[in-house]
Amino acid sequence: MKIKFPLMIAVLSWALFSCQPTVKKSADSIDAKVDSIVSLMTLEEKIGQLTLFTSDMDQTGAFIRKEYEEDIKQGRVGSIFNAYGAEYTRKLQKMAVENTRMKIPLLFGYDVIHGHRTIFPMPLAEAASWDLEIIEKSARIAAIEATAEGLHWTFAPMADVSFDPRWGRIIEGAGEDTYLASLISAARVKGFQGDNLSDLNTLVACVKHFAAYGASQAGRDYHSVDMSERMLREVYLPPYKAALDAGAMTVMTSFNDLNGIPATASKYLMTEILRDEWGFEGFIVTDYTSIMELMYHGVAADTLEASLLSINAGVDIDMQAGFYNTALTRLVETKQVDEELINIAVRRILKVKYLLGLFDDPYRYSSTEREATEIMTPEFIETARDVARKSIVLLKNENQLLPIDPATKTIAVIGPLSESRRDLIGSWSAAGDWAKSVTLLEGIKARVPNARILHAQGCDIDGKSKDGFAQAIAAARQADVVVLALGEAYWMSGEAASRSDIGLPGVQQQLAEAIHATGKPVVAVLMNGRPLTINWLDENIPAILQTWFLGTTTGNAIADVLFGDYNPSGKLPVTFPKNVGQIPIHYNMKNTGRPFDANNKYTTKYLDVSNEPLYPFGFGLSYTTFAYDEIELSKSSIGLEETLTVSINVANTGDFDGEEVVQMYIRDKVASVSRPVKELKGFKKINLKKGESQKVSFEIGLEALSFYRADMSFGAEKGDFEVMIGGSSVDTKSASFSLK
Ligand code: BGC
Repeated sequence: MKIKFPLMIAVLSWALFSCQPTVKKSADSIDAKVDSIVSLMTLEEKIGQLTLFTSDMDQTGAFIRKEYEEDIKQGRVGSIFNAYGAEYTRKLQKMAVENTRMKIPLLFGYDVIHGHRTIFPMPLAEAASWDLEIIEKSARIAAIEATAEGLHWTFAPMADVSFDPRWGRIIEGAGEDTYLASLISAARVKGFQGDNLSDLNTLVACVKHFAAYGASQAGRDYHSVDMSERMLREVYLPPYKAALDAGAMTVMTSFNDLNGIPATASKYLMTEILRDEWGFEGFIVTDYTSIMELMYHGVAADTLEASLLSINAGVDIDMQAGFYNTALTRLVETKQVDEELINIAVRRILKVKYLLGLFDDPYRYSSTEREATEIMTPEFIETARDVARKSIVLLKNENQLLPIDPATKTIAVIGPLSESRRDLIGSWSAAGDWAKSVTLLEGIKARVPNARILHAQGCDIDGKSKDGFAQAIAAARQADVVVLALGEAYWMSGEAASRSDIGLPGVQQQLAEAIHATGKPVVAVLMNGRPLTINWLDENIPAILQTWFLGTTTGNAIADVLFGDYNPSGKLPVTFPKNVGQIPIHYNMKNTGRPFDANNKYTTKYLDVSNEPLYPFGFGLSYTTFAYDEIELSKSSIGLEETLTVSINVANTGDFDGEEVVQMYIRDKVASVSRPVKELKGFKKINLKKGESQKVSFEIGLEALSFYRADMSFGAEKGDFEVMIGGSSVDTKSASFSLK
């Protein structure tokens, strides 16, 4: 039954909030205020706070609800996503504040994944920079732009580790490595949330998709996940935890079931791990209609049962299903749900709104002034260009074909991605305007205005037509060098974009073969959202640049690398397989009981492909060369409480100044469980002028040596270890030490 509170109480409660200063609120005083508001709310009003609906400004899921404005006015919704713009968010906020009894402000969320207006490289590309500082900076700029347009909350970072390039969403994460992904997740959270949630440009982070979404069976999106607890805890959970430790205030459930229990109904994940073990105090939101999907998973028969499972699991907000709205009142009335459970969820949500200062001023983020001055500033564009060029990975450079001499007379720019604009900003491009992105052709023309630039598309990204081949071949024949832009369309990766064949789509390889047959030197520029099986290119094309989808400044950033204004320094955050049959393939696999031996049939291998990937994790070339000396150890054995310093001298032995990512891997040689052949445990990105050298050191302590032991306790075991340091996971120097 709806209880009518006198208007005065509502006004008093509002006053209670609005007279508070925005900074230096003690946790106790915030809790007390939130409690007092909750005590004044009706059950319907509370349930409204547990509901998130999309506006129709953007569509990021299967369906949208047209009546969301009415929902706001009726208090049926506490947060809105896919709505941005100072004026529009102000208009919607006004509807909430002026029409509802409690006047509780809305929270505006959006998928600000790799930039808001200024689009940065896709997250997997940024991960290839191995540069935490610029990754944090990119998230900070995204937050500044998004908050200038009324947004409070981003559904990022995605912390899902994945070994499966068929899975289109691999583009949204940091790749296959837990250690790297953990550091990157934390950097992104820091960037989004800034130093103080009450600052005007703070965007609340939502770490997703909890949990293990990246292990969807066979790389098919939304598919089931079945894995051991050891694998879950050791490989998949740490990046989410790192994001929470960095302060992420919210978590999103994943679509998949984990060992039979859909995440959105998993008390184990949402309460036991997140809250009881990790002490997470923020709120949990479902992924799009996940509560409804519990029925399709076959664990709930109807709305009531699905909602009951979710609320009991510990899920606070229902995104887009509208199930909490329909079912929770009934569940409370029939005493299947204790109202206190709902109060707890509401408190978590109101606390975030309070920390953002929305109770002081619900419109504080919706500023047309900021919107006019803090979007796509020259500084942001310049930073995006810097991040973009740092995300490029040089995969091959035979006979130093790259960099191209800027004095080259004739350059042919060929391929279906050479003039593409839309593809450059990738999937999840928020409010990014693809019309503002710089194409490869434009970038090259701007860099070498005096060169003769010939252009031909050659073929479409997908499709069978070779009609454009003749023109492309003719252009190539006249050129001194060919830049051939190949890859995927933006919609071929991201959500609901799994592929079973991860080769170049359409007739692109045939185009490459035809251009190669002209005998001209060819530089392949790859634009794609996932690792591709590009064996033919690797064997035949002398220079290959992996440029992913680099965002707004793509053409300029690639030109910086092509012509040597920037020496590429990216390293792969994910393994490139030779074929789909090798998947899952990742650098940190186990040795097995029958390690590979070419001379012994009965060892782990395939009959038709080697065990080696096409390009390994951590790999990436430079225009210069780096030489690594032998590893030096400060001691050859350490006790449990001690640390050891490992150092290595790295010299720039080539002809260019350059950056190198010095990577440190560790192997536990004998343990109570079989350990990976190597695991990344440290890295440093250094800048060396040509001829210069530098000693790079890492500290190794208990943390780097710990794992889930046979009894599932976490810790290190005494014994021998190998430490490996180098410029990729397969090219390392090694030394041994022991833990006593
Ligand atoms: C995606 C999420 C996203 C949400 C809201 C879902 O379909 O899986 O990653 O945050 O939509 O747009």
